[in-house]
Amino acid sequence: MEARQIKPNVYWVGAIDWDRRLFDALIPLPDGTSYNAYLVQGSQKVAVIDAVDPSMADVLMTYLRDVPIVDYVIANHAEQDHSGSIPQVLEKYPGAKVVTTPRGKDMFVDLLLISADRFITVSDGETLSLGGKTLEFIHAPWVHWPETMLTYLREDKVLFPCDLFGSHIATTDLYVTDEGQVYEAAKRYYAEIMMPFRTSIEKHLEKIKGYQIDIIAPSHGPMYDKPSFILEAYRSWVFDPPRNIVVLPYISMHGSTQKMVEYLVGALADRGVTVKQFNLAVADIGKLAMALVDAATMVIGTPTVLVGPHPNVAYAAVLANALRPRLQFVSIIGSYGWGSRAVEQLKGMIPNLKVEVLDPVISKGFPRESDFKALHNLADIIAEKHKEHGFA
Ligand code: FEO
Repeated sequence: MEARQIKPNVYWVGAIDWDRRLFDALIPLPDGTSYNAYLVQGSQKVAVIDAVDPSMADVLMTYLRDVPIVDYVIANHAEQDHSGSIPQVLEKYPGAKVVTTPRGKDMFVDLLLISADRFITVSDGETLSLGGKTLEFIHAPWVHWPETMLTYLREDKVLFPCDLFGSHIATTDLYVTDEGQVYEAAKRYYAEIMMPFRTSIEKHLEKIKGYQIDIIAPSHGPMYDKPSFILEAYRSWVFDPPRNIVVLPYISMHGSTQKMVEYLVGALADRGVTVKQFNLAVADIGKLAMALVDAATMVIGTPTVLVGPHPNVAYAAVLANALRPRLQFVSIIGSYGWGSRAVEQLKGMIPNLKVEVLDPVISKGFPRESDFKALHNLADIIAEKHKEHGFA
């Protein structure tokens, strides 16, 4: 594939990773991903904006084969899927400097062992002229690590936000062509990577409001030539109140918890509450993360294993705690045979969730009439709470 022109003397020089199925040894990638790097040629200087995953460094280096000089590598983010091939770029261009935030420099030195004299650090709002192409650096910590910044190309009105606004999709389309597919992938990406930093993103969204943006060129997935599509989606995920949705991750070993889950899901549906049920034995954890973006309530269903929750349920609780969704209410349902501390242990796993914990319903053995009555009451309480708060 040739370098692909976005604007005069601005090119996409990224790598498409069709086969990758797991990111950070954690996040499922059902549609692969891309590592988007960009080449900006001014009349006096040349810059590469971000790089690619080291596993695909040869793709970037092939694009750079006929580029005689690179003066700057703009490094918006130190994570290796964008930075891991920077050492090869620096080796090819001994005069090139890495342009990053002060925090970024420290991280690059630690993570990639790049010599400290190869860096130029930039402050928030600082600019760098390439000759007819002016790069402005916007500090934007925590999208996704503390060192991150966005780069804005003034003359062409292109924003290069690295991870922010990205989507894990492998595609030959330079721009969004299927909005439905990209919305889903971008929401999955937001849920898994950005949601824990929602309060930082609130500030960044406000900050970039003042910029005229023709194209958003993230470092994963297709670019946005209609930026309002992704900006409005982010505003909705970040600013909107949670919705009238219950997320129900659960495991059942011998059918007792399953029966309780089925009853509660039916009772909630009868009360007009949307339920997203995830059997953790088979669930795509990315779908669970996506559901947490909008949900007002999470009900965790677990049997008891060696006195505590099932390990898969503990994993989901720890994940939800790390992702810090907008949840307002949590409850726990489940079962045990002879003794259980599952409720206390699960409660201890979600300290980040600023939620009201609704009375759990735990059945000794297979659920009886009294357990179904308690589930009926729990459904009433959840529906009432959602209504009281105006969650629609
Ligand atoms: Fe795409 Fe945080 O790396």
